[in-house]
Amino acid sequence: MRIADTRILACPRTGAPLHWDGTNLELHLVDGELRAADGGAVWPVVDGLPRLFDEARLKGTDRLMRHIHDRLPRAHRPLLRVALPLLQGGGTERVLREALLEHLRLGRLAGDGTTPTRLLEVGIGAGDNVPVLRAALPGGLRAELWGTDLSETLLRRCAGRWGHNPLAEQARLVLADPHYLPFADGVFDRVFHVGGLGRFDDPSRVLAEMFRVVRPGGRVVIVGKRVDPREPQAPMFEAAYRLLTLHEPEVPLDTLTLPDGAVDVIDEQVSRFFFLLGLGRPAVE
Ligand SMILES: C[S@@+](CC[C@H](N)C(=O)[O-])C[C@H]1O[C@@H](n2cnc3c(N)ncnc32)[C@H](O)[C@@H]1O
Repeated sequence: MRIADTRILACPRTGAPLHWDGTNLELHLVDGELRAADGGAVWPVVDGLPRLFDEARLKGTDRLMRHIHDRLPRAHRPLLRVALPLLQGGGTERVLREALLEHLRLGRLAGDGTTPTRLLEVGIGAGDNVPVLRAALPGGLRAELWGTDLSETLLRRCAGRWGHNPLAEQARLVLADPHYLPFADGVFDRVFHVGGLGRFDDPSRVLAEMFRVVRPGGRVVIVGKRVDPREPQAPMFEAAYRLLTLHEPEVPLDTLTLPDGAVDVIDEQVSRFFFLLGLGRPAVE
């Protein structure tokens, strides 16, 4: 992350702007602190990674998921990539990423000539969406991809894909609790999440946070796990799917509170085991 990028960060406790104080390498943060402008909290940056979450506020589920994701072997993702298409009768990963890209409506992003276009992936993990998104963005668009996660292991793995500290170009990464996103209001053009909704302590709060940080006229998209209610699965397939996804609970949409003012709401089953929820923030509020 570059020093200039810190201007869209906000204290996850109070929402105050953050000021950088530390060592840099070619204008990228290395080690130091981000201090809240209201004189309150001080957040560490260690080896290029800001830690913008309150350990004391983390709930049991979120701690447990961090613990699990921090320890998942590298082989877990490739295993899912091979096994899920088999269980779904083909194409899972492609189907999901294509649905995501379609509903992010990247083709409509034109930039305004001054502010860069910003995309945020909540729960970016090891960054499997990054190359797909980069390739799909309109040519010539000045775009920044940002990612948060609670698992330091996954974020460092994500960073490692492009060598040390190249994420200033590929993705800006932040350790953050999705229930308290450390960003100012309305700074992203698109905000999305893939695959962990049922693991959040309070999925409605995470959705509200995603909606808060998307700009007016922007869009929020979530891809979540849901066995297609219209298509009964063989019990063996369903059991294997549940095992592979570590028994992630489903979040029925009627239990999710949609943010006030959300427009153009889309709920679609995009494959046997996944749904997609898309919602827009009106351009004029
Ligand atoms: C299934 S992975 C998907 C990763 C990436 N989005 C992708 O599409 O490849 C879900 C991600 O959400 C994060 N996550 C899951 N539960 C979480 C929780 N309770 N709090 C914060 N992050 C969580 C995990 O660390 C993981 O990176």
